[in-house]
Amino acid sequence: MSTQDERHSDLEDRLRRLNEIGIALSSVQNDLTALLERILLQARHFTGAEAGTLYLVKGDVLTFEIAQNDKLNIVLGGSHGTVDIPPVPVNRDSVSGYVATTGTTLNIPDVYADSERNFEGPKSYDRMTGYSTKSMLVVPMRDHEDQITGVLQLLNALDRDGRTHPFSREDESLIESLASQAAVAINNVRLIGDTEALFDAFVRVMATAIDERSPYTGGHIRRVAEMTMVVAHAVNDCAEGPFADVHFNRDEMEELRIAAWMHDIGKITTPEWIVDKPTKLTTIYDRIETLRLRFALMEQQVERLKACGQINAEEAQEQLEKLASDLAFLERANLPGEYMEDADVERLRRIAQQTYELRGQVHPCITEEELTNLVIRKGSLTDSERKKINDHASMSMKMLEQIPFTRKLRRVPEIAGAHHEKLDGSGYPNGLKAESIDLQSRILALVDIFESLSADDRPYRAEPMPRERVLKILKEMVDDYHIDRDVFDLFLREGLAAKLDELKEQMAHER
Ligand SMILES: [Fe+2]
Ligand SMILES: [Fe+2]
Repeated sequence: MSTQDERHSDLEDRLRRLNEIGIALSSVQNDLTALLERILLQARHFTGAEAGTLYLVKGDVLTFEIAQNDKLNIVLGGSHGTVDIPPVPVNRDSVSGYVATTGTTLNIPDVYADSERNFEGPKSYDRMTGYSTKSMLVVPMRDHEDQITGVLQLLNALDRDGRTHPFSREDESLIESLASQAAVAINNVRLIGDTEALFDAFVRVMATAIDERSPYTGGHIRRVAEMTMVVAHAVNDCAEGPFADVHFNRDEMEELRIAAWMHDIGKITTPEWIVDKPTKLTTIYDRIETLRLRFALMEQQVERLKACGQINAEEAQEQLEKLASDLAFLERANLPGEYMEDADVERLRRIAQQTYELRGQVHPCITEEELTNLVIRKGSLTDSERKKINDHASMSMKMLEQIPFTRKLRRVPEIAGAHHEKLDGSGYPNGLKAESIDLQSRILALVDIFESLSADDRPYRAEPMPRERVLKILKEMVDDYHIDRDVFDLFLREGLAAKLDELKEQMAHER
């Protein structure tokens, strides 16, 4: 082979190896530990290095991440656990510190014969371990912004016969290329991690903001999110039954987790007074106070009529008693606890026809709008308020659709938006039927109902609902084809209700 041919083949070999490095590094996408291990392994593989160490720059020190030494049979760090070795200061006193400080590669044929830089580190390592360091190649890892983010240190290049020789110039340039590709790959993994952490923090902040709007639902979202994942894991663990063949992969689990954390995000648009409307007349305050004032005015009116002789004492007394009894009735009607019968509604309408006089003007003692609230038969919400509350599910979907989720999280809006759908199509916001409601949404829906029913208190529920009653309601919802029977059976079989109690206790301790 001519010299030119040899050079050509060398170049081809180098390109091939660099290509292999690029492929090897890009195959590890979001696992920093696996990536660091791969980098060191590849570097050793291409140079025949018997041992090696990878450091990362953290502030003004180099932290020891991975060490491999075939001779001593040592594999430290990475997937083999954390390494309890003190960090190395970034200064010129150590080999790795020198390289991180100066940004230059050190290719030392024999550390013991190197009079120019008398580094103690390799020698004390040899004394400690019984190893015999000779050749060293130490390369800075530089990212795309020319920042040194780590140091790759290789020890003892071995030939085919296992003899140590110095690292070659080719090794040097090859590892420099690998190191810079590695630095970029590390940065990418870190950026992905940082982005995920940032998004996760955002999700939790939003959940806290929503939970904090109501003293009655505090922690609901976190409990739903954590319980949903407990159920999803239980589905994955099923070896028999309807879920034997179902397995949520890592991405699907993450998708469900985010959807659960964001399922009620639409509640941010629900007026605060509607969220926990404690009485029928509540807006930003309870308007029963206004009604009391009006009744006080009406009493004064009766007193005035009596004083100027227009009515006698007996008539006055009768009218005052009626006013007192009407007001007491209004105060009761204002509370959402009891069902309003037809006769009650009729009496409200009669009372509403009374008037009072203020500054020469006659006003109805109950306005149309107040009456609309008072005649609510059950609960405290008018139809339009109920609709506004229900809107939170479609609002969740609408808001989440505006987030540019990555491909693996693309179904978050759909899963979160379907948490109030019912299998028979009677749910909201879209009245989806069973075939359009996937398993993730069914799990989330069941957990959401279970958690809400198990709340410690509500505006007019002083006592928490007993567990048997909660489960009975869920069972009825299964029979009515609202929620999924298989998910409910799994929920019961796995004793998942008890997990909620554990979670509540844990959250109480964290407060
Ligand atoms: Fe909801
Ligand atoms: Fe919810």
